[in-house]
Amino acid sequence: MVKSSRPQTQEQKKIPANNSDEKVRIFDTTLRDGEQSPGISITPEQKIQIAIKLDELGVDAIEAGFPIVSHGEAHAIKTIVKQGLRAEICGLARTVQSDIDAAIACDLNYVHTFIATSDIHMKDKLKMSRKQVLEKAVWAVDYAKKHGMQVEFSAEDATRSDRPFLMQVFQAVSAAHADRLDIPDTVGYATPEYISSLVRDIRAATGLPISMHCHDDFGLAVANSIAGINAGASCAHVTINGLGERAGNASLEEFVMALQCLYRRKHNIKTTLLYETSKFVSNTMGIVVQPNKAIIGENAFGHESGIHTHGIINNPLTYEPISPELVGRKRWLQAGKHAGAHGIRAMLEDFGVKPTEEQLRLIVEKQKNLADKGKAITTSELLSIAGEIMHNAKLEEKFKLYDFHIVTGMSIIPTAVVRLNIDGKDFIASEIGVGPVDAALKAIQKIAGEMANVKIREYRLDSITGGSDALAEVSIKVEDKTGNVVSARKSGEDVVVASVQAMMDAINKVLLREALYSKS
Ligand code: KIV
Ligand code: ZN
Repeated sequence: MVKSSRPQTQEQKKIPANNSDEKVRIFDTTLRDGEQSPGISITPEQKIQIAIKLDELGVDAIEAGFPIVSHGEAHAIKTIVKQGLRAEICGLARTVQSDIDAAIACDLNYVHTFIATSDIHMKDKLKMSRKQVLEKAVWAVDYAKKHGMQVEFSAEDATRSDRPFLMQVFQAVSAAHADRLDIPDTVGYATPEYISSLVRDIRAATGLPISMHCHDDFGLAVANSIAGINAGASCAHVTINGLGERAGNASLEEFVMALQCLYRRKHNIKTTLLYETSKFVSNTMGIVVQPNKAIIGENAFGHESGIHTHGIINNPLTYEPISPELVGRKRWLQAGKHAGAHGIRAMLEDFGVKPTEEQLRLIVEKQKNLADKGKAITTSELLSIAGEIMHNAKLEEKFKLYDFHIVTGMSIIPTAVVRLNIDGKDFIASEIGVGPVDAALKAIQKIAGEMANVKIREYRLDSITGGSDALAEVSIKVEDKTGNVVSARKSGEDVVVASVQAMMDAINKVLLREALYSKS
Protein backbone atom coordinates (compact mmCIF):
# COMPACT_ATOMS: atom_id res chain seq x y z
CA MET A 1 0.00 0.00 0.00
CA VAL A 2 1.21 3.49 -0.78
CA LYS A 3 1.84 5.46 2.41
CA SER A 4 0.36 8.93 2.45
CA SER A 5 3.38 10.19 4.30
CA ARG A 6 4.15 13.41 2.45
CA PRO A 7 3.37 16.53 4.43
CA GLN A 8 0.87 18.98 3.10
CA THR A 9 2.29 22.00 1.33
CA GLN A 10 2.03 25.47 2.82
CA GLU A 11 -0.30 26.33 -0.04
CA GLN A 12 -2.66 23.55 0.93
CA LYS A 13 -2.58 24.51 4.59
CA LYS A 14 -3.29 28.15 3.83
CA ILE A 15 -6.61 27.37 2.15
CA PRO A 16 -9.16 29.29 4.19
CA ALA A 17 -12.12 27.58 5.75
CA ASN A 18 -14.94 27.76 3.27
CA ASN A 19 -17.07 30.73 4.07
CA SER A 20 -20.20 32.03 2.53
CA ASP A 21 -18.63 35.30 1.31
CA GLU A 22 -16.38 33.46 -1.10
CA LYS A 23 -17.50 33.16 -4.69
CA VAL A 24 -18.55 29.65 -5.64
CA ARG A 25 -16.34 28.36 -8.44
CA ILE A 26 -18.16 27.20 -11.54
CA PHE A 27 -16.42 24.37 -13.38
CA ASP A 28 -18.29 23.78 -16.62
CA THR A 29 -18.13 20.31 -18.11
CA THR A 30 -20.57 20.77 -21.02
CA LEU A 31 -17.77 20.03 -23.46
CA ARG A 32 -16.76 16.81 -21.68
CA ASP A 33 -19.49 15.17 -19.59
CA GLY A 34 -22.15 17.10 -21.55
CA GLU A 35 -20.76 15.88 -24.84
CA GLN A 36 -20.93 12.33 -23.47
CA SER A 37 -24.76 12.63 -23.49
CA PRO A 38 -26.22 9.89 -25.67
CA GLY A 39 -26.63 11.08 -29.25
CA ILE A 40 -24.36 14.11 -29.14
CA SER A 41 -21.46 14.53 -31.48
CA ILE A 42 -20.09 17.94 -32.33
CA THR A 43 -17.27 19.12 -34.53
CA PRO A 44 -14.04 20.60 -33.15
CA GLU A 45 -15.16 23.99 -34.56
CA GLN A 46 -18.45 23.77 -32.64
CA LYS A 47 -16.55 22.87 -29.45
CA ILE A 48 -14.46 26.00 -29.83
CA GLN A 49 -17.55 28.17 -30.35
CA ILE A 50 -19.16 26.74 -27.22
CA ALA A 51 -15.98 27.32 -25.19
CA ILE A 52 -16.00 30.99 -26.24
CA LYS A 53 -19.67 31.30 -25.20
CA LEU A 54 -18.95 29.68 -21.82
CA ASP A 55 -16.10 32.09 -21.26
CA GLU A 56 -18.36 35.05 -22.06
CA LEU A 57 -20.89 33.63 -19.61
CA GLY A 58 -18.23 33.85 -16.90
CA VAL A 59 -17.52 30.24 -15.92
CA ASP A 60 -14.31 29.89 -13.91
CA ALA A 61 -13.11 26.67 -15.52
CA ILE A 62 -13.96 24.81 -18.71
CA GLU A 63 -13.40 21.08 -19.01
CA ALA A 64 -12.73 21.19 -22.72
CA GLY A 65 -12.75 17.45 -23.32
CA PHE A 66 -10.96 14.14 -22.97
CA PRO A 67 -7.74 14.55 -24.99
CA ILE A 68 -7.01 10.83 -25.47
CA VAL A 69 -10.34 10.00 -27.18
CA SER A 70 -9.56 11.25 -30.71
CA HIS A 71 -7.35 13.49 -32.80
CA GLY A 72 -10.30 15.81 -33.44
CA GLU A 73 -10.91 16.12 -29.69
CA ALA A 74 -7.24 16.84 -28.99
CA HIS A 75 -7.13 19.40 -31.81
CA ALA A 76 -10.24 21.17 -30.47
CA ILE A 77 -8.81 21.28 -26.91
CA LYS A 78 -5.49 22.63 -28.17
CA THR A 79 -7.30 25.33 -30.15
CA ILE A 80 -9.41 26.25 -27.11
CA VAL A 81 -6.22 26.60 -25.03
CA LYS A 82 -4.83 28.95 -27.72
CA GLN A 83 -7.85 31.27 -27.53
CA GLY A 84 -6.43 32.84 -24.37
CA LEU A 85 -9.79 32.70 -22.61
CA ARG A 86 -10.24 34.09 -19.12
CA ALA A 87 -11.50 30.73 -17.80
CA GLU A 88 -9.04 28.02 -16.79
CA ILE A 89 -9.02 25.20 -19.34
CA CYS A 90 -8.89 21.63 -18.15
CA GLY A 91 -8.75 18.19 -19.77
CA LEU A 92 -9.85 14.80 -18.47
CA ALA A 93 -7.42 11.91 -18.06
CA ARG A 94 -7.58 8.44 -16.58
CA THR A 95 -4.78 7.71 -14.13
CA VAL A 96 -2.60 6.38 -16.94
CA GLN A 97 0.44 7.93 -18.55
CA SER A 98 -0.94 7.99 -22.11
CA ASP A 99 -3.94 10.06 -20.98
CA ILE A 100 -1.89 12.55 -18.96
CA ASP A 101 0.65 12.82 -21.78
CA ALA A 102 -2.22 13.50 -24.21
CA ALA A 103 -3.37 16.35 -21.95
CA ILE A 104 0.16 17.75 -21.78
CA ALA A 105 0.41 17.51 -25.59
CA CYS A 106 -2.69 19.73 -25.83
CA ASP A 107 -0.70 22.44 -23.98
CA LEU A 108 -3.04 22.12 -21.00
CA ASN A 109 -1.66 23.02 -17.60
CA TYR A 110 -4.71 21.74 -15.73
CA VAL A 111 -5.73 18.08 -15.69
CA HIS A 112 -8.72 16.34 -14.13
CA THR A 113 -7.63 12.79 -13.45
CA PHE A 114 -9.94 10.08 -12.19
CA ILE A 115 -10.14 6.48 -11.11
CA ALA A 116 -13.07 4.58 -9.65
CA THR A 117 -12.99 3.76 -5.94
CA SER A 118 -16.26 1.85 -5.44
CA ASP A 119 -16.06 -1.93 -5.03
CA ILE A 120 -18.42 -2.55 -7.94
CA HIS A 121 -16.29 -0.46 -10.33
CA MET A 122 -12.98 -1.83 -9.08
CA LYS A 123 -14.15 -5.46 -9.29
CA ASP A 124 -16.36 -5.48 -12.39
CA LYS A 125 -14.87 -2.69 -14.52
CA LEU A 126 -11.25 -2.05 -13.57
CA LYS A 127 -10.51 -5.60 -12.33
CA MET A 128 -8.16 -4.02 -9.82
CA SER A 129 -7.60 -4.36 -6.10
CA ARG A 130 -7.94 -1.43 -3.68
CA LYS A 131 -4.16 -1.39 -3.35
CA GLN A 132 -3.70 -1.06 -7.13
CA VAL A 133 -6.29 1.70 -7.37
CA LEU A 134 -4.68 3.64 -4.55
CA GLU A 135 -1.25 3.30 -6.14
CA LYS A 136 -2.48 4.40 -9.56
CA ALA A 137 -4.26 7.43 -8.12
CA VAL A 138 -1.15 8.60 -6.30
CA TRP A 139 1.09 7.82 -9.28
CA ALA A 140 -1.09 9.89 -11.65
CA VAL A 141 -1.25 12.91 -9.37
CA ASP A 142 2.48 12.75 -8.79
CA TYR A 143 3.23 12.35 -12.52
CA ALA A 144 1.02 15.29 -13.53
CA LYS A 145 2.41 17.50 -10.76
CA LYS A 146 5.96 16.68 -11.87
CA HIS A 147 4.92 17.95 -15.31
CA GLY A 148 3.87 21.24 -13.79
CA MET A 149 0.14 20.68 -13.99
CA GLN A 150 -2.62 21.85 -11.73
CA VAL A 151 -4.31 18.57 -10.72
CA GLU A 152 -7.93 17.94 -9.78
CA PHE A 153 -8.45 14.37 -8.64
CA SER A 154 -11.80 12.57 -8.86
CA ALA A 155 -12.65 9.34 -7.09
CA GLU A 156 -15.20 8.05 -9.59
CA ASP A 157 -18.35 6.65 -7.94
CA ALA A 158 -17.20 8.27 -4.69
CA THR A 159 -20.66 8.22 -3.16
CA ARG A 160 -20.95 4.42 -3.47
CA SER A 161 -17.37 3.82 -2.32
CA ASP A 162 -16.43 2.28 1.01
CA ARG A 163 -16.04 5.40 3.14
CA PRO A 164 -12.74 4.54 4.94
CA PHE A 165 -11.16 3.50 1.61
CA LEU A 166 -12.39 6.68 -0.10
CA MET A 167 -10.87 8.76 2.70
CA GLN A 168 -7.63 6.83 2.36
CA VAL A 169 -7.49 7.59 -1.38
CA PHE A 170 -8.28 11.29 -0.92
CA GLN A 171 -5.68 11.61 1.83
CA ALA A 172 -3.08 9.84 -0.29
CA VAL A 173 -3.63 12.04 -3.36
CA SER A 174 -3.62 15.14 -1.23
CA ALA A 175 -0.28 14.07 0.20
CA ALA A 176 0.85 13.64 -3.43
CA HIS A 177 0.08 17.36 -3.84
CA ALA A 178 -3.25 17.23 -5.69
CA ASP A 179 -4.57 20.79 -5.91
CA ARG A 180 -8.26 19.97 -5.76
CA LEU A 181 -10.45 17.01 -4.92
CA ASP A 182 -13.65 16.24 -6.74
CA ILE A 183 -16.49 14.13 -5.36
CA PRO A 184 -18.36 12.51 -8.23
CA ASP A 185 -21.83 11.22 -7.51
CA THR A 186 -21.39 9.19 -10.67
CA VAL A 187 -24.79 7.51 -10.79
CA GLY A 188 -26.68 10.22 -8.91
CA TYR A 189 -27.19 7.91 -5.95
CA ALA A 190 -26.41 10.24 -3.06
CA THR A 191 -28.80 12.20 -0.88
CA PRO A 192 -28.08 15.78 0.19
CA GLU A 193 -27.54 14.56 3.77
CA TYR A 194 -24.92 12.02 2.69
CA ILE A 195 -23.13 14.61 0.52
CA SER A 196 -22.97 17.05 3.46
CA SER A 197 -21.34 14.56 5.79
CA LEU A 198 -18.93 13.36 3.08
CA VAL A 199 -17.78 16.88 2.22
CA ARG A 200 -17.26 17.78 5.89
CA ASP A 201 -15.13 14.67 6.47
CA ILE A 202 -13.03 15.04 3.31
CA ARG A 203 -12.44 18.70 3.93
CA ALA A 204 -11.42 18.04 7.55
CA ALA A 205 -9.11 15.22 6.51
CA THR A 206 -7.35 16.97 3.61
CA GLY A 207 -7.92 20.73 3.84
CA LEU A 208 -8.06 20.82 0.04
CA PRO A 209 -10.63 22.72 -2.02
CA ILE A 210 -13.48 20.40 -2.92
CA SER A 211 -15.61 20.21 -6.05
CA MET A 212 -18.97 18.50 -6.42
CA HIS A 213 -19.77 16.50 -9.55
CA CYS A 214 -23.39 15.39 -9.30
CA HIS A 215 -25.43 13.39 -11.78
CA ASP A 216 -29.19 13.69 -12.01
CA ASP A 217 -30.42 10.08 -12.04
CA PHE A 218 -32.85 10.83 -9.18
CA GLY A 219 -33.33 14.49 -10.07
CA LEU A 220 -31.15 15.53 -7.12
CA ALA A 221 -28.06 16.81 -8.93
CA VAL A 222 -28.63 20.48 -8.14
CA ALA A 223 -29.79 19.80 -4.55
CA ASN A 224 -26.76 17.58 -3.95
CA SER A 225 -24.37 20.15 -5.43
CA ILE A 226 -25.82 22.81 -3.16
CA ALA A 227 -25.63 20.51 -0.13
CA GLY A 228 -21.94 20.06 -0.95
CA ILE A 229 -21.36 23.81 -1.19
CA ASN A 230 -23.18 24.44 2.08
CA ALA A 231 -21.02 21.80 3.75
CA GLY A 232 -17.78 23.44 2.60
CA ALA A 233 -17.17 22.52 -1.05
CA SER A 234 -16.04 25.54 -3.05
CA CYS A 235 -16.80 24.44 -6.60
CA ALA A 236 -19.40 22.55 -8.63
CA HIS A 237 -19.02 20.72 -11.92
CA VAL A 238 -22.07 21.68 -13.95
CA THR A 239 -23.28 21.67 -17.54
CA ILE A 240 -25.42 23.95 -19.66
CA ASN A 241 -28.99 22.60 -19.88
CA GLY A 242 -27.98 19.81 -17.46
CA LEU A 243 -26.49 17.81 -20.31
CA GLY A 244 -24.39 14.78 -19.42
CA GLU A 245 -24.29 11.02 -19.20
CA ARG A 246 -27.77 9.42 -18.89
CA ALA A 247 -30.04 11.86 -16.97
CA GLY A 248 -27.28 14.45 -17.10
CA ASN A 249 -25.29 16.56 -14.66
CA ALA A 250 -26.34 19.41 -12.39
CA SER A 251 -27.61 22.16 -14.65
CA LEU A 252 -25.48 25.29 -14.52
CA GLU A 253 -28.51 27.57 -14.87
CA GLU A 254 -30.47 26.00 -12.04
CA PHE A 255 -27.46 25.66 -9.75
CA VAL A 256 -26.30 29.26 -10.22
CA MET A 257 -29.76 30.80 -9.84
CA ALA A 258 -30.58 28.72 -6.76
CA LEU A 259 -27.23 29.66 -5.22
CA GLN A 260 -27.76 33.33 -5.91
CA CYS A 261 -31.44 33.70 -5.14
CA LEU A 262 -32.04 31.11 -2.43
CA TYR A 263 -28.67 30.94 -0.69
CA ARG A 264 -27.34 34.44 -1.40
CA ARG A 265 -24.00 33.08 -2.58
CA LYS A 266 -21.79 34.91 -5.06
CA HIS A 267 -20.35 33.63 -8.33
CA ASN A 268 -18.89 35.00 -11.55
CA ILE A 269 -21.72 34.07 -13.92
CA LYS A 270 -23.35 36.83 -15.96
CA THR A 271 -26.87 35.59 -15.39
CA THR A 272 -28.37 37.73 -18.15
CA LEU A 273 -26.51 35.54 -20.66
CA LEU A 274 -27.95 32.27 -19.33
CA TYR A 275 -30.84 31.91 -21.77
CA GLU A 276 -28.79 32.87 -24.80
CA THR A 277 -26.04 30.40 -23.83
CA SER A 278 -28.58 27.65 -23.21
CA LYS A 279 -30.11 28.22 -26.67
CA PHE A 280 -26.71 28.26 -28.31
CA VAL A 281 -25.71 24.95 -26.72
CA SER A 282 -29.11 23.39 -27.44
CA ASN A 283 -28.95 24.39 -31.11
CA THR A 284 -25.31 23.40 -31.53
CA MET A 285 -25.60 20.06 -29.77
CA GLY A 286 -29.05 19.32 -31.18
CA ILE A 287 -30.58 18.49 -27.78
CA VAL A 288 -33.90 20.16 -27.12
CA VAL A 289 -34.57 21.59 -23.66
CA GLN A 290 -37.82 20.31 -22.14
CA PRO A 291 -40.38 23.17 -22.13
CA ASN A 292 -40.96 22.98 -18.38
CA LYS A 293 -37.27 23.04 -17.42
CA ALA A 294 -36.51 25.55 -14.67
CA ILE A 295 -34.95 28.88 -15.69
CA ILE A 296 -34.34 28.09 -19.37
CA GLY A 297 -37.36 26.00 -20.48
CA GLU A 298 -39.73 27.78 -22.91
CA ASN A 299 -42.55 27.72 -20.36
CA ALA A 300 -40.49 28.90 -17.37
CA PHE A 301 -41.82 32.46 -17.76
CA GLY A 302 -45.02 31.77 -19.74
CA HIS A 303 -48.52 32.14 -18.29
CA GLU A 304 -51.94 31.06 -19.52
CA SER A 305 -54.15 30.57 -16.49
CA GLY A 306 -56.44 33.52 -15.78
CA ILE A 307 -55.68 33.53 -12.07
CA HIS A 308 -51.95 33.58 -12.74
CA THR A 309 -51.99 36.21 -15.47
CA HIS A 310 -54.18 38.42 -13.30
CA GLY A 311 -51.61 38.16 -10.50
CA ILE A 312 -48.68 38.68 -12.86
CA ILE A 313 -50.21 41.83 -14.32
CA ASN A 314 -50.71 43.31 -10.85
CA ASN A 315 -47.30 42.23 -9.58
CA PRO A 316 -45.10 39.75 -11.47
CA LEU A 317 -43.69 38.40 -8.21
CA THR A 318 -47.08 36.80 -7.43
CA TYR A 319 -46.31 33.95 -9.82
CA GLU A 320 -42.66 34.41 -10.77
CA PRO A 321 -39.91 33.81 -8.22
CA ILE A 322 -37.44 35.97 -10.16
CA SER A 323 -37.75 38.46 -12.94
CA PRO A 324 -37.21 36.85 -16.38
CA GLU A 325 -34.81 39.66 -17.37
CA LEU A 326 -32.38 38.45 -14.69
CA VAL A 327 -31.69 35.37 -16.83
CA GLY A 328 -31.98 37.12 -20.19
CA ARG A 329 -35.63 36.29 -20.86
CA LYS A 330 -39.03 37.88 -21.35
CA ARG A 331 -42.32 36.77 -19.89
CA TRP A 332 -45.11 35.81 -22.28
CA LEU A 333 -48.84 35.33 -21.93
CA GLN A 334 -50.82 32.75 -23.86
CA ALA A 335 -54.45 32.80 -24.95
CA GLY A 336 -56.34 29.56 -24.28
CA LYS A 337 -59.12 28.01 -22.24
CA HIS A 338 -57.46 28.89 -18.92
CA ALA A 339 -56.87 32.49 -19.93
CA GLY A 340 -58.93 35.15 -18.21
CA ALA A 341 -59.99 38.68 -19.09
CA HIS A 342 -56.92 40.26 -17.46
CA GLY A 343 -54.46 38.19 -19.45
CA ILE A 344 -56.30 38.70 -22.74
CA ARG A 345 -56.55 42.43 -22.09
CA ALA A 346 -52.79 42.57 -21.40
CA MET A 347 -52.03 40.64 -24.61
CA LEU A 348 -54.21 43.01 -26.64
CA GLU A 349 -52.81 46.11 -24.96
CA ASP A 350 -49.36 44.94 -25.98
CA PHE A 351 -50.57 45.76 -29.52
CA GLY A 352 -52.25 49.00 -28.45
CA VAL A 353 -55.73 47.40 -28.73
CA LYS A 354 -58.16 48.59 -26.02
CA PRO A 355 -61.54 46.79 -26.06
CA THR A 356 -64.48 47.88 -23.91
CA GLU A 357 -65.53 45.59 -21.04
CA GLU A 358 -68.29 44.07 -23.18
CA GLN A 359 -66.00 43.58 -26.19
CA LEU A 360 -63.40 41.98 -23.94
CA ARG A 361 -66.01 39.59 -22.53
CA LEU A 362 -66.97 38.51 -26.07
CA ILE A 363 -63.32 38.12 -27.14
CA VAL A 364 -62.54 35.94 -24.11
CA GLU A 365 -65.64 33.84 -24.73
CA LYS A 366 -64.86 33.31 -28.40
CA GLN A 367 -61.23 32.34 -27.86
CA LYS A 368 -62.27 29.94 -25.06
CA ASN A 369 -64.75 28.25 -27.41
CA LEU A 370 -61.97 27.74 -29.94
CA ALA A 371 -59.60 26.47 -27.22
CA ASP A 372 -62.27 23.99 -26.07
CA LYS A 373 -62.16 22.52 -29.56
CA GLY A 374 -58.48 21.78 -28.99
CA LYS A 375 -57.19 24.75 -30.98
CA ALA A 376 -54.08 26.53 -29.67
CA ILE A 377 -54.74 30.19 -30.40
CA THR A 378 -51.93 32.26 -31.84
CA THR A 379 -51.57 35.95 -31.04
CA SER A 380 -52.56 37.01 -34.56
CA GLU A 381 -55.68 34.82 -34.32
CA LEU A 382 -56.53 36.49 -31.00
CA LEU A 383 -56.11 39.89 -32.63
CA SER A 384 -58.25 38.73 -35.51
CA ILE A 385 -61.03 37.71 -33.08
CA ALA A 386 -60.69 41.14 -31.44
CA GLY A 387 -60.89 42.75 -34.90
CA GLU A 388 -64.14 40.94 -35.66
CA ILE A 389 -65.74 41.88 -32.35
CA MET A 390 -64.45 45.44 -32.34
CA HIS A 391 -65.21 45.92 -36.08
CA ASN A 392 -61.62 46.98 -36.61
CA ALA A 393 -60.35 45.82 -40.00
CA LYS A 394 -56.79 46.76 -39.01
CA LEU A 395 -56.76 43.76 -36.69
CA GLU A 396 -57.63 41.29 -39.42
CA GLU A 397 -54.89 38.84 -40.30
CA LYS A 398 -53.42 40.33 -43.48
CA PHE A 399 -51.90 37.10 -44.71
CA LYS A 400 -54.31 34.23 -45.03
CA LEU A 401 -53.12 30.79 -45.97
CA TYR A 402 -55.31 29.20 -48.65
CA ASP A 403 -53.33 26.10 -49.35
CA PHE A 404 -49.94 24.60 -49.94
CA HIS A 405 -48.49 21.49 -51.60
CA ILE A 406 -45.20 19.80 -51.00
CA VAL A 407 -43.32 17.36 -53.18
CA THR A 408 -40.46 15.59 -51.49
CA GLY A 409 -38.55 12.32 -51.65
CA MET A 410 -35.06 10.86 -51.80
CA SER A 411 -34.48 11.55 -55.48
CA ILE A 412 -36.50 14.77 -55.71
CA ILE A 413 -35.52 18.26 -54.63
CA PRO A 414 -38.11 19.23 -51.99
CA THR A 415 -40.46 21.75 -53.59
CA ALA A 416 -43.33 23.73 -52.10
CA VAL A 417 -46.17 25.59 -53.79
CA VAL A 418 -47.94 28.04 -51.47
CA ARG A 419 -51.15 29.97 -52.10
CA LEU A 420 -51.84 32.98 -49.89
CA ASN A 421 -54.42 35.69 -49.84
CA ILE A 422 -53.20 39.14 -48.95
CA ASP A 423 -55.78 41.90 -48.56
CA GLY A 424 -58.23 40.03 -50.78
CA LYS A 425 -55.77 39.20 -53.58
CA ASP A 426 -54.44 35.70 -54.31
CA PHE A 427 -50.73 35.02 -54.65
CA ILE A 428 -49.00 31.79 -55.59
CA ALA A 429 -45.29 31.00 -55.31
CA SER A 430 -43.12 27.92 -55.52
CA GLU A 431 -39.68 27.36 -54.02
CA ILE A 432 -37.21 24.57 -53.49
CA GLY A 433 -35.38 23.93 -50.23
CA VAL A 434 -33.19 21.50 -48.32
CA GLY A 435 -36.35 19.92 -46.98
CA PRO A 436 -40.12 20.45 -47.14
CA VAL A 437 -40.18 22.97 -44.29
CA ASP A 438 -37.39 25.03 -45.80
CA ALA A 439 -39.11 25.01 -49.19
CA ALA A 440 -42.50 26.04 -47.74
CA LEU A 441 -41.09 28.85 -45.59
CA LYS A 442 -39.08 30.17 -48.54
CA ALA A 443 -42.20 30.20 -50.72
CA ILE A 444 -44.07 32.22 -48.06
CA GLN A 445 -41.18 34.66 -47.80
CA LYS A 446 -41.15 35.00 -51.59
CA ILE A 447 -44.78 36.10 -51.59
CA ALA A 448 -44.32 38.27 -48.52
CA GLY A 449 -41.46 40.03 -50.32
CA GLU A 450 -41.30 43.72 -49.65
CA MET A 451 -44.64 43.84 -47.87
CA ALA A 452 -43.36 41.90 -44.89
CA ASN A 453 -39.67 41.64 -45.43
CA VAL A 454 -38.77 39.22 -42.67
CA LYS A 455 -35.69 37.13 -41.98
CA ILE A 456 -35.94 33.91 -40.01
CA ARG A 457 -33.70 34.35 -36.96
CA GLU A 458 -34.53 31.08 -35.25
CA TYR A 459 -36.52 27.96 -36.05
CA ARG A 460 -37.05 25.16 -33.54
CA LEU A 461 -38.95 21.96 -33.78
CA ASP A 462 -39.71 20.12 -30.52
CA SER A 463 -41.48 16.84 -30.26
CA ILE A 464 -44.07 17.09 -27.48
CA THR A 465 -45.23 13.48 -27.51
CA GLY A 466 -43.54 10.28 -28.64
CA GLY A 467 -44.07 8.02 -31.65
CA SER A 468 -44.20 8.77 -35.36
CA ASP A 469 -47.55 10.55 -34.84
CA ALA A 470 -45.95 12.80 -32.21
CA LEU A 471 -47.31 16.25 -31.58
CA ALA A 472 -44.62 18.68 -32.65
CA GLU A 473 -44.16 22.25 -31.51
CA VAL A 474 -42.62 24.75 -33.87
CA SER A 475 -41.16 27.97 -32.47
CA ILE A 476 -40.09 30.58 -34.92
CA LYS A 477 -38.47 33.99 -34.52
CA VAL A 478 -38.45 36.46 -37.38
CA GLU A 479 -36.79 39.83 -37.68
CA ASP A 480 -38.60 42.63 -39.48
CA LYS A 481 -36.93 45.28 -41.61
CA THR A 482 -36.37 47.56 -38.62
CA GLY A 483 -34.64 44.83 -36.61
CA ASN A 484 -37.59 44.00 -34.30
CA VAL A 485 -37.81 40.32 -33.46
CA VAL A 486 -41.23 38.68 -33.31
CA SER A 487 -41.79 35.11 -32.17
CA ALA A 488 -44.61 32.68 -32.84
CA ARG A 489 -45.26 29.07 -31.96
CA LYS A 490 -47.64 26.46 -33.24
CA SER A 491 -48.14 22.80 -32.44
CA GLY A 492 -49.59 20.07 -34.59
CA GLU A 493 -49.06 16.53 -35.82
CA ASP A 494 -47.74 17.60 -39.21
CA VAL A 495 -44.47 19.47 -38.83
CA VAL A 496 -44.76 21.19 -42.20
CA VAL A 497 -48.29 22.46 -41.49
CA ALA A 498 -47.26 23.64 -38.00
CA SER A 499 -44.19 25.36 -39.46
CA VAL A 500 -46.23 27.13 -42.14
CA GLN A 501 -48.82 28.25 -39.57
CA ALA A 502 -46.15 29.51 -37.17
CA MET A 503 -44.52 31.47 -40.00
CA MET A 504 -47.88 32.96 -41.04
CA ASP A 505 -48.54 33.98 -37.43
CA ALA A 506 -45.12 35.62 -37.14
CA ILE A 507 -45.62 37.58 -40.38
CA ASN A 508 -49.13 38.64 -39.37
CA LYS A 509 -47.81 39.86 -36.03
CA VAL A 510 -45.16 41.94 -37.78
CA LEU A 511 -47.79 43.47 -40.09
CA LEU A 512 -50.29 44.05 -37.29
CA ARG A 513 -47.71 45.84 -35.22
CA GLU A 514 -46.81 48.04 -38.18
CA ALA A 515 -50.48 48.79 -38.94
CA LEU A 516 -51.45 49.48 -35.35
CA TYR A 517 -48.51 51.71 -34.56
CA SER A 518 -48.50 53.62 -37.87
CA LYS A 519 -50.03 57.10 -37.72
CA SER A 520 -52.47 56.62 -40.63
O1 KIV B 1 -19.45 11.12 -13.28
C1 KIV B 1 -18.24 10.86 -13.12
O2 KIV B 1 -17.85 10.11 -12.25
C2 KIV B 1 -17.31 11.49 -14.04
C3 KIV B 1 -15.87 11.32 -13.73
C4 KIV B 1 -15.03 11.28 -14.95
C5 KIV B 1 -15.44 12.40 -12.80
O3 KIV B 1 -17.71 12.17 -14.96
ZN1 ZN C 1 -19.83 12.67 -14.71
